Amino acid sequence: MWQPCASSDPICFVCRCPKCMELKLPREGASFCTQDCFKASWSSHKSVHLKAKLSSFGTGTPHEQNSDLLNEGWLYCLKKGQARTPKLPHFDWTGTLRPYPIAGRRVVPAHIKHPDWAVDGIPKIEPNSDLQHVVEIKTVDQIERMRETCRIAREVLDAAAHVVRPGVTTDEIDRVVHDATIAAGGYPSPLNYHFFPKSCCTSVNEVICHGIPDARTLEDGDIVNVDVTVYYKGVHGDLNETYFVGNVDEESQRLVRCTYECLEKAISIVKPGVRFREIGEVINRHASMSGFSVVKSICGHGIGELFHCAPNIPHYGRNKAVGVMKAGQTFTIEPMINAGVWRDRMWPDGWTAVTADGKRSAQFEHTLLVTQTGVEVLTARLPSSPHVFPWLNA
Ligand code: MF3
Ligand code: CO
Ligand code: CO
Repeated sequence: MWQPCASSDPICFVCRCPKCMELKLPREGASFCTQDCFKASWSSHKSVHLKAKLSSFGTGTPHEQNSDLLNEGWLYCLKKGQARTPKLPHFDWTGTLRPYPIAGRRVVPAHIKHPDWAVDGIPKIEPNSDLQHVVEIKTVDQIERMRETCRIAREVLDAAAHVVRPGVTTDEIDRVVHDATIAAGGYPSPLNYHFFPKSCCTSVNEVICHGIPDARTLEDGDIVNVDVTVYYKGVHGDLNETYFVGNVDEESQRLVRCTYECLEKAISIVKPGVRFREIGEVINRHASMSGFSVVKSICGHGIGELFHCAPNIPHYGRNKAVGVMKAGQTFTIEPMINAGVWRDRMWPDGWTAVTADGKRSAQFEHTLLVTQTGVEVLTARLPSSPHVFPWLNA
């Protein structure tokens, strides 16, 4: 049964047109009675998006993120593919980071199995699946495939970690992720997912998540999260880590370490019978103890043959997540912790989530399997993983 969902997660596309959500268009007209209805009306509905952008040209005010979307510089995402023009759109930037040009689309060889969004940017199975409401218990075969895929995803992320240093562009990190993924026989799941233009997310400093790899070079003192998802043997594996670029100030080191610990503490409670809503309690306790805040609008998610599905896993305290963990379930935990306020804003590109106060944000993510006795971290670090976190060195 289709139901309206209450999630504000921009990745929760169950009942609204994802493009309308990106454009922050009103729910009326962006909601559909069923997913079939949405699919059937797509060819006519999509003109709404272009119209919305055109009619909002020049009318933006600092307090209306939704209406300052149109600016020639940002039409790239609608019209020209993915070039960002040198002229920046009007936006009350929350911090010092700015968008840079995005390079052209990378190619995945035809012999690699593509997810259904690869061609036209629209996931078709995912939003219509019962698995948006029911948490799947994976079969032995599915679990075995997830182990393989998650291990590849880990190796791909480790390859990316090796090239992080001052002077490297986030687009270069994307190239490493893309090439390592296809070398392993996988498809980089983000590529063309709801039109996302790149093969991974790179989120620098005040970017919370979903940063688009671009021509900006990393600077000494930056922090950068690299989020990798691989599609291989029909299943997805999803993980991310936040890295230090050169010498980073102590407050940022504390933020990144605290975020790492939030994920570790959350994982430590995972076992059959535990309520999903407990995860947010553990994370909130540790983050607030350190004087940091927890992002609310983006959540962990079920994963498997679908990239994003039930359960929805908020990372903040006093959340209303439903259900208890059962052996055989697979999901991510991916807390985003902010140095300042918890609130996020979105850049006019429709993807980049930044902190409302421009202070820094860190994130770590694992894909997990609930076992009879506890948890298996499918994307766990390997003996070969680079030693980039001082607190892990004995
Ligand atoms: N990997 C992200 C997650 O953890 C999702 C990225 S979707 C993209 O859920 F389209 F932004 F790439
Ligand atoms: Co995820
Ligand atoms: Co991810």
